Amino acid sequence: MHLISSAAEMTALSKEASRTGKRIGFVPTMGALHAGHISLVRAARAQSDVVVASIFVNPTQFGPNEDFSKYPRTFDADCALLEKEQTDYVFHPSVEEMYPKGATTWVAVEGLSEKLDGRSRPGHFRGVTTVVAKLFNIVQPDMAFFGQKDAAQVAIIRKMVRDLDMDVEIVVCPIVREADGLAMSSRNAYLSPEQRRCAAVLHRALMRLQMLMDRGEASSSTLIAAGRQVMAEEPAAKLDYFEIVNPETLDPVGEISGGALIAVAAWVGSTRLIDNMLVPGTTVLGKTNR
Ligand code: PAJ
Repeated sequence: MHLISSAAEMTALSKEASRTGKRIGFVPTMGALHAGHISLVRAARAQSDVVVASIFVNPTQFGPNEDFSKYPRTFDADCALLEKEQTDYVFHPSVEEMYPKGATTWVAVEGLSEKLDGRSRPGHFRGVTTVVAKLFNIVQPDMAFFGQKDAAQVAIIRKMVRDLDMDVEIVVCPIVREADGLAMSSRNAYLSPEQRRCAAVLHRALMRLQMLMDRGEASSSTLIAAGRQVMAEEPAAKLDYFEIVNPETLDPVGEISGGALIAVAAWVGSTRLIDNMLVPGTTVLGKTNR
């Protein structure tokens, strides 16, 4: 496994791999790796010849009052995990390497970036799409692997790739969870033991909706009310949103029968947590979720 901090060197290595007919699989991350990230690396390993993972805590996707400075940074442990998964290259640029002085260009997916998490985190998705576009240009992957955990991010990146004719296949991998259902997240490390217990409420709310849907409930407003009720049973969790939307447009849908994304976000103390599920049978870009 090779560690690379120079964008030019990364591009040269990718070009060389492509020239020799190798398919490059890319897993962008902000580090503090857990089993969710590792599932993406394994998918990349299974589907490509050369696996590149990036570790870059991207300042432009954090708001001024968000957790950029305290975001967990565990570079050595991350590298040990990536090495075990037979990652070929770890790209870990500095902030100056990614954003040289004077850089003023942004990539923004208008419309989608202001929905779900974008509504509570203004500017967040513009930072995500800008850094992912830059990483795609630097790494030049054939395939890039993202987690369903960040469902809005997936919709926005797919739209960016379509709108800007980027020559990369986006592969989306399922959410990896803790034993009690909490979606794995680098931010779970912020939770106290008591908050960690409360955090499972997001998944419990989704499971309640699953049960109602199994019984035939299809009305979004009824389902949302039930989800909000479960969330309210845990006063330490402050709901940000509970929405049922089209997974591509992120616009609310009145009925789940045509397929839908159920998404929830809540604050537990000062930690913002998100979770979601695709209604079984939902078709996204021609692929049906079972
Ligand atoms: P980060 O939060 O480090 O996540 C990197 C990738 O891991 C994302 O695609 C995310 O959806 C996926 N992931 C996180 N938790 C997961 C889980 N429990 N199960 C499955 N996949 C999971 O997302 C980002 O970084 C950044 O926005 C980035 C795309 C790297 C741009 O800076």
